[in-house]
Amino acid sequence: MDVSVLFISFLLALFLLADCTELPFQERMLLKALGLNGRPRPVSPGPVPKALWKIFEKGINAENPCRMEGFQVPGNIVRSYRDQGPLISSEVPHESLCFKKHLFFDLSVIEKKEQVTLGQLEIKFKHNTYHGREFQFRLYRPLRLSLKGMRDHQTNRRLLFAQSFRLLHRSLHFNLTKVAQDWTTPENNMGLVMEIYADGEPANKFSTLCEQIHSFTHTSLLTVTLDPTSCKAARPKRSAESSMPTPSNICKKRRLYIDFKDVGWQNWVIAPRGYMANYCHGECPYPLTEMLKGTNHAVLQTLVHSIEPEITPLPCCAPTKLSPISMLYYDNNDNVVLRHYEDMVVDECGCK
Ligand SMILES: *[C@@H]1O[C@H](CO)[C@@H](O)[C@H](O)[C@H]1NC(C)=O
Repeated sequence: MDVSVLFISFLLALFLLADCTELPFQERMLLKALGLNGRPRPVSPGPVPKALWKIFEKGINAENPCRMEGFQVPGNIVRSYRDQGPLISSEVPHESLCFKKHLFFDLSVIEKKEQVTLGQLEIKFKHNTYHGREFQFRLYRPLRLSLKGMRDHQTNRRLLFAQSFRLLHRSLHFNLTKVAQDWTTPENNMGLVMEIYADGEPANKFSTLCEQIHSFTHTSLLTVTLDPTSCKAARPKRSAESSMPTPSNICKKRRLYIDFKDVGWQNWVIAPRGYMANYCHGECPYPLTEMLKGTNHAVLQTLVHSIEPEITPLPCCAPTKLSPISMLYYDNNDNVVLRHYEDMVVDECGCK
């Protein structure tokens, strides 16, 4: 069933079950079609990353909803994860080490059927220093602890990136595609270790800045994944809609705006606030005209119906052309998710 059809039946159920507290069956069906097991309940959702807003505002390339244009990779889901790793007190004393932090991103929300096509780490420094002090950034990946190797703590990690930077209002980006692909197996996800050094000088020389650096460093991971089960072949270009007037009882597209507030989804859907879903309604009488965009089968069915009306029903008024929309929402882990959904908007109706 099309997602838009599920939406209509969900709306109807809401009106009928206005005082029923149980999640209507239609809503569960609808959420499942949207790739969710239930209504997400974000606890303390953070701000929406700029990169996700940009993609959302740019909209979907309707001809290829399974490509994330902003990142030039295949995909229909973008997630931004919050870092859940603890600050590590400087356990290995090193005189120029400013701070050391364990980074952990919970990628268990990525489903088995999804392919990770991009992983990007962003380290954002929300601070300006104009003194030109340089810091060293190092990112390590802890390796699986072998019983033998446990003696030497230092060697049990692999250096992924090392870079120097200055504390300005800017971000560092690192390609973690391979690592993120590996992390979809939760046992492989031991996080990362980030270290920041005060370059050249002992940290105690500007200890205040070193103490503060943690508070204005913000780390997040972004993944792009492709759920192939919600991707069809590239769709043909939309044809211009016929502007011929149609009698009101004849099968055609009807305007329907779905407001997420009306369905109680405003707590987890970030954007859009609602959308023009539309629906199909009307009769498919004999003889079917060109205007009703009947399938060959529907034309035959109306013909048979005109001969044997008791045995063969008239064709149904149903969507013949649908288009995708993007949704930005919070999941249960307070991650921000941007997802492209196919078949959400009814563009044209016809007799089928
Ligand atoms: C990121 O790394 C992956 C795999 O290591 C590579 O295929 C991809 O081209 C890289 N992306 C960018 C933008 O460099």
